[in-house]
Amino acid sequence: MTRGKFITFEGPDGSGKTTVSSAVCERLTELGYSVRYSREPGGSNIAERIRDIILDPDHTDMDPRCEALLYAASRRQHLTDIILPSLEQGTHVICDRFVDSSVAYQGFGRHIGAEPIREINAFATDGILPDKTIFLDVPAEIGLERINAGRREKDRLDQEGIAFHQAVYDGYRHVVETGGDRIVVIDASKPVDEVIENALSAVREILDGE
Ligand SMILES: Nc1ncnc2c1ncn2[C@@H]1O[C@H](COP(=O)(O)OP(=O)(O)OP(=O)(O)O)[C@@H](O)[C@H]1O
Ligand SMILES: [Mg+2]
Repeated sequence: MTRGKFITFEGPDGSGKTTVSSAVCERLTELGYSVRYSREPGGSNIAERIRDIILDPDHTDMDPRCEALLYAASRRQHLTDIILPSLEQGTHVICDRFVDSSVAYQGFGRHIGAEPIREINAFATDGILPDKTIFLDVPAEIGLERINAGRREKDRLDQEGIAFHQAVYDGYRHVVETGGDRIVVIDASKPVDEVIENALSAVREILDGE
C-alpha cells in the first residue's frame, strides 16, 4: 500500500489556516481522495490535555522552555496516535500546524532560537517532517485584525502584543527561507475563496504528483 502524504498548513494567527485547511480537506474528500483532517493537538486525549495546560489564560508565568517542551510533547502524542497510523493506512493527512509553528512561536516569538526548537522537535517526531507545508502568508497585523473582528475566544498566546506576533512572522520568514522545496507560499491576504482555490490546487499537485 502507498503511504499517505503528510501536508501541513502554517501561518501567523488569523492567516486562515483553520478556514482554508478544513475547506481544502472537504473538497478533497468530495473529489474522492482518502484524507484525514487533523489539527494540533488533534483530538488525541493526552495531547489535548497537555495543550490545555499550555493555553490556560491563568498560566501567564509559564517558562518559555517549559512551553516549548510541552508543545513538543503534545505533538509527539498526536503524531503517534493520529498522524502516523493514518499515513500507514494510505490516508493523506492535512494538519493545521506542526513543527514550523514551534520554530516561529517558541523559537522567534519567545526568543529561544530556531535550532534548540528544531532539536527538541526532532527528538519528539523522530525527525519526521511534513511532505509539504502550505504557508499562508499575511502580515501579522492583518491576521490580528481578523482575529479581533471574529468571535473566537482569546487564549494565552493570542493575548500577546504586536511585538510578539511580529517576531512570530519573522520566524515564519525564516522557516520559508530554510525550508526549501517543502514550503509552498500562498498569498493569504487575498479573498478567502481565492486562497482556498490556490491552496487546493497546490495540494492536489502534491497528492497527484510522484
Ligand atoms: N483570506 C481571508 N480574508 C478575510 N478574512 C479571512 C480570510 N481567511 C480567513 N479569514 C477570517 O479570519 C478569521 C481567522 O481565520 P482562521 O481562524 O481560519 O485563522 P487561523 O490561521 O486558523 O487562526 P489561528 O492561528 O488563531 O488559529 C476568521 O474569522 C476567518 O473567517
Ligand atoms: Mg486556527
